[in-house]
Amino acid sequence: MNPKIIKENNRIFKKLSPFYDSVTRMLLPLREAITKQLIKQKAVRVVDLACGTGTQAELLVKRGIQVVGVDVSPAMLAIARKKVKSRKARFIKARADKTGLPSASFDAAVISFVLHEIPAKPAHAVIMEAKRLVKKKGIIAIAEYNSKDLRFSIWNRFFGVIFEGDAWSLFMERGLDYYLRKAKLKPYSDQYFLFKNLRLVFCRV
Ligand SMILES: C[S@@+](CC[C@H](N)C(=O)[O-])C[C@H]1O[C@@H](n2cnc3c(N)ncnc32)[C@H](O)[C@@H]1O
Repeated sequence: MNPKIIKENNRIFKKLSPFYDSVTRMLLPLREAITKQLIKQKAVRVVDLACGTGTQAELLVKRGIQVVGVDVSPAMLAIARKKVKSRKARFIKARADKTGLPSASFDAAVISFVLHEIPAKPAHAVIMEAKRLVKKKGIIAIAEYNSKDLRFSIWNRFFGVIFEGDAWSLFMERGLDYYLRKAKLKPYSDQYFLFKNLRLVFCRV
C-alpha cells in the first residue's frame, strides 16, 4: 500500500483517536454479533485486521478468545494496548494487507470498517490476506456500510464524500459484494444493523 496513503491515514487517526470510541459506541450490537458467532464457531485464535482501538479484541478476549490486532496507526494501537491488557491480546503495527504473520495460523479473521477507507487494490489485498491467515474452513467476518441502502442517501452524497476519503465513493458504488466476489467468498450469514445502514457477513474459507 502506498506509504503516502498510510501517512495520511495515520495523520487522520491521530486526530480522531481520542473520540473514536465514543463516536463508534453505536457499533456495539454489531461487534457483539461478531463475538457471538465466533464463540459459536469455537474460534480460539482470531486476527483483527485494521483493529483500530481494539474494542472488538476486548470483547473477544473477555470471552476467552486469543486475538492479534493489526493496525498501521500508532495512535489507535496505543489506545488498544492501554484498553486491552490481557495476555490473550497482542497488538502489532503492520499493514492489514501484508501482516507478516504465519499462514493458516488463525481460526477466524475480522475486517471491520476499513475496506471503504482504502483504495480497491489494497482493500482486495486485505481480504486475500485474511484468507491466507485463516485455517481451512475458518471464518472471515466483514463489517461494512450497507451501500445498497445508503447509496443514494444524503449521507453518501454530501457528508460521506467530505468526511470519508476518496475511496468511500468507489466503495459505495461497488458495494461489499464486489469485493466478496473478487475474493471468491460467499457469505453463509448476512446481517444488518443500525436501520440497515451497516452490514455484517460471515464467510467460510
Ligand atoms: C474506521 S477504523 C476501523 C477500526 C476497527 N476495525 C473498528 O471496527 O472500529 C479504520 C482503521 O483501519 C486502519 N487502517 C487503514 N489502513 C490500514 C492498513 N493498510 N493496514 C492496517 N490498518 C489500516 C486505520 O489506522 C484505522 O485504525
